[in-house]
Amino acid sequence: MTDPSIASVLGAAEQRLAAAGVDSPGTDASILLAHAWGLDGRGLSRARLMGDPVPPAVVPVFDALVERRAARVPAQHLTGAAHFRTLTLPVGPGVFVPRPETELLVDPVLAHLARTRPDGGGRVVDLCTGTGALGLAVATEAAGTSAVGVEIDPTAVGWARRSAEAVAADLAGAGSTFIVVEADASDPGAVRKVVDDRLAGTVDVVVSNPPYVVADGTTTAPEVVDHDPPSALWGGGDDGTRLPRGIIAAAAHVLADGGLLVLEHADTQGVLLREASIAAGFARVTTHADYTGRDRFTTAVRQSHLERK
Ligand SMILES: C[S@@+](CC[C@H](N)C(=O)[O-])C[C@H]1O[C@@H](n2cnc3c(N)ncnc32)[C@H](O)[C@@H]1O
Repeated sequence: MTDPSIASVLGAAEQRLAAAGVDSPGTDASILLAHAWGLDGRGLSRARLMGDPVPPAVVPVFDALVERRAARVPAQHLTGAAHFRTLTLPVGPGVFVPRPETELLVDPVLAHLARTRPDGGGRVVDLCTGTGALGLAVATEAAGTSAVGVEIDPTAVGWARRSAEAVAADLAGAGSTFIVVEADASDPGAVRKVVDDRLAGTVDVVVSNPPYVVADGTTTAPEVVDHDPPSALWGGGDDGTRLPRGIIAAAAHVLADGGLLVLEHADTQGVLLREASIAAGFARVTTHADYTGRDRFTTAVRQSHLERK
């Protein structure tokens, strides 16, 4: 019998995953085949172009991965890696898998640092850091940044530290640092202490993707409900904004005048969090949409004492 072609193996897997309700069955099948084969995405494309058959030893490994994905285990938990902007971060049970829409938050942070710290030296706090995705992306893309990730869950703190180790060369290349502190990011006093201890009391940017999901029973995807840690999901309160409001309060407490807050939230929370930001002393409060056109994050500038008068 001849070894199976890549197209036939992927086609069968795509059908299996689609039948199991997986959102992007074709993409996930390719990711899992590359992983089972020990290739990266480019290597799999090259093998496809060359018409290479799938080696017999790879097939059962791939089939087992496809079955686990069909049981709705996230693809990133199966490969042990999540891609976030230019970085590949280790992930697994106990940490929130960073999402593509969160990558958008990095752009306004970089633009603000380029404008206000053109020679580097930016000080950035990533509240609710999880894997450290946001803080690490900023620190590796903006040279000379001192970034601190704040996370309450000790398991996630461990993952964030592993992430920092995984991208240590990128951090060093950028001349930046990223450290992780276990603390309550919604407690302004606790965040103040972190900033005083680690960033000498001044912060240019607070960036945050906090828990904000509304616990109204509409979030049912098994990948989320069964595999993201509960502490990463539920925002609290009737509208899911209890934690995000705490982040706004903490940011107002530690940002320098003119400092920037970049806060991810649900598409239903734009107005609520704009109002909360203005009430906390922020100006130029703007809600931004994600790739699907839904409200996804808000930027706000800590008002200077002059403006506030
Ligand atoms: C939605 S996940 C986001 C993780 C990461 N920022 C990202 O974008 O992928 C929220 C994270 O906040 C953490 N968290 C929840 N409540 C917290 C709190 N009060 N203080 C600090 N971290 C908290 C959770 O453990 C989780 O890692």
